[in-house]
Amino acid sequence: MSFTEEFGTRVTVVDHPMVQHKLAILRDEGTSSKQFRELVRELALFEGYEATRDLPLEDVRVKTPITEATCKMVQGKKLAIVPILRAGLGMVEGMLELMPAAKVGHLGMYRDETTHEPHEYYAKMPEDIASREVLVVDPMLATGGSAIAALHYLRKCGVKNLKLAVIVAAPEGIRAVLAADPEVQVFTCAIDQGMNEACYIVPGLGDAGDRIFGTK
Ligand code: URA
Repeated sequence: MSFTEEFGTRVTVVDHPMVQHKLAILRDEGTSSKQFRELVRELALFEGYEATRDLPLEDVRVKTPITEATCKMVQGKKLAIVPILRAGLGMVEGMLELMPAAKVGHLGMYRDETTHEPHEYYAKMPEDIASREVLVVDPMLATGGSAIAALHYLRKCGVKNLKLAVIVAAPEGIRAVLAADPEVQVFTCAIDQGMNEACYIVPGLGDAGDRIFGTK
């Protein structure tokens, strides 16, 4: 069964030729941290386009230099971007370029060493997060553990409209996320083969956080 058949409309693969081109450079182990950061920002912006495709529009009257026209503008929908620390931070700038009025919440996750369950160690959300359309961002969706914990946290905060934007996803991670949250929409630039024994995505791009922040 293809991924399209398996995941249906709940997963969007943003596979525009420019996205695939940039992703190939991102994967290359020889790409510098500086270029890696720029590419993550650009890919986040492309994903933002797709993730905001369903925003409602309203008619506005505009006076052009020639005449008056009825045009469309995005309704005043309240948005929030929530990066999962730390690698998710790399996607915030690109998303904000597209949605400058969005608020940004931050969510830090750690993995309990005995239960291996992810828990939040830091959470700072906009006060009105429950009434916002929320886009959770993290470049890598591997096992899905952190993403699921983040989605669960935001549901507990009362968020109704939730989307998850990643750059590379493992099929296992997507399956886990879709099963854990029956409403969430997932956006990714690629669905890779799977994970290795260390839970790195294969072929993947290595540790996204280390490559963004140069901490290897
Ligand atoms: N997180 C990463 O940064 N890379 C992977 O391959 C998996 C999880």
